[in-house]
Amino acid sequence: MNFKKTILCIGAGYVGGPTMAMIAYKCPQYKVTVVDINPERIARWNSDDLPIYEPGLDEIVKTVRGRNLFFNTDIEKGIKESEIIFVSVNTPTKTYGTGAGMAADLQYWEKTARQIRESAESHKIVVEKSTLPVKTALAMERILTSMNNGIRFDVLSNPEFLAEGSAVKDLEDPDRILIGSRETPEGLKARDELVKIYANWVSEERIITSNIWSSELSKLVSNAFLAQRISSINSISALCEKTDADITEVSRAVGMDSRVGNKFLNAGIGFGGSCFKKDILNLVYICRFQGLDEMADYWEGVVKINDYQKERFILNMLSAMFNTLAGKRICLFGFAFKANTGDTRESPAILIAGRLVEEKADLIITDPQALKNAMTALSDINGQINYVEDPYDAAAGCDAIAVMTEWDMYAGLDFEKIYKSMTKPAFIFDGRNILDHEKLFEIGFNVYPIGKPALTHF
Ligand SMILES: NC(=O)c1ccc[n+]([C@@H]2O[C@H](COP(=O)([O-])OP(=O)(O)OC[C@H]3O[C@@H](n4cnc5c(N)ncnc54)[C@H](O)[C@@H]3O)[C@@H](O)[C@H]2O)c1
Repeated sequence: MNFKKTILCIGAGYVGGPTMAMIAYKCPQYKVTVVDINPERIARWNSDDLPIYEPGLDEIVKTVRGRNLFFNTDIEKGIKESEIIFVSVNTPTKTYGTGAGMAADLQYWEKTARQIRESAESHKIVVEKSTLPVKTALAMERILTSMNNGIRFDVLSNPEFLAEGSAVKDLEDPDRILIGSRETPEGLKARDELVKIYANWVSEERIITSNIWSSELSKLVSNAFLAQRISSINSISALCEKTDADITEVSRAVGMDSRVGNKFLNAGIGFGGSCFKKDILNLVYICRFQGLDEMADYWEGVVKINDYQKERFILNMLSAMFNTLAGKRICLFGFAFKANTGDTRESPAILIAGRLVEEKADLIITDPQALKNAMTALSDINGQINYVEDPYDAAAGCDAIAVMTEWDMYAGLDFEKIYKSMTKPAFIFDGRNILDHEKLFEIGFNVYPIGKPALTHF
């Protein structure tokens, strides 16, 4: 079949896979290929057991795979054959050298730039999909044009705003698509090419354009603002616990101000995921590099509050359970960093599990999607940890349940049955405030929500 356009995506991860599946789904006239250096990941994208869990993704991939969506490891061929190349490789926090623990590690990104340069035989539009420090496009341009071989490359920034757990919905009906370009005739022409792709299903007013640096920076700022809201409400939850105020009531009152809005105001054990922390730290690093120390301190505070919230949760557990957790069985309800995903990267549950093991507690972990990733995430921790799929089996014989992930299914469980199967006194620490606390208390549990008075029988 003759396709109108050939699109390549380098990086078949949480962003590359779903994003390209949506483009292929909405645009049958384009051929979309996703390549990766990891053959196992590609094999899973070509199987019935996709490498990531996202509601609705299986159906879309099944519809388009083999029709106009293809997964393989032939990066060179993919580059040669495509007109538009999305780069969606990982950009984790650097763990070595200058900027370790703060700056973005751009080694995967740079390698990709070099690969594109070496394999390209004709004009390419190269789209930054990964989240990158502001001004990365300049480095990309310099690498791409350093061979002086007459091939033209136009670099665009098109950051991805999808949230894991609702990726399909976010991709199908995005709040906005942002495309940043150079403001030269060639840059604007390349930008219009990308606009045309999204215009197949996204309305015009939601496709916004900007200069390339604003686009790169907007993604970092967007994640910083989202994380800041979580840390803001979490910081107030600590004060609520000291003063008998109720964080849910405070959130409602504050969020009903239309200037503030009511989203992202649920207190909990803190944010996780591969992006928020790394992107804020990257922003902090850039600020310091630019000599903006006050600004850097301000944003670093968001990460500090997030760490404080997790530690506070552990200390609350310890003090509620008579200052010792040694030999106690604690069941973690959920391990994914949020509901509707199997992703455990930077999940608060990782730190909490580690701290509980340090206190010599025995852990039983349950999660509907994340058990495999949980095992990998905790593989370095020496302690009693069991992984159990069924939440009833997981809780049986435990002293306490700690809710780590806001999976809907947990609110619907039969807690009378669970209570009967547990060691007494039985405790619930609701790290996501999703359970019916009054009801649990009536059943017999000692209940410790976040940012609300505890309900105890002592
Ligand atoms: N996960 C999210 O929710 C999300 C949302 C928005 C933006 N982002 C950003 O998107 C980017 C990708 O994130 P992700 O979560 O998809 O990462 P990921 O780790 O799931 O996927 C990245 C993939 O790139 C592949 N890769 C690395 N180097 C390669 C190379 N040279 N050639 C081919 N493949 C290569 C890896 O093997 C991996 O499969 C990051 O910059 C991230 O910050 C992520």
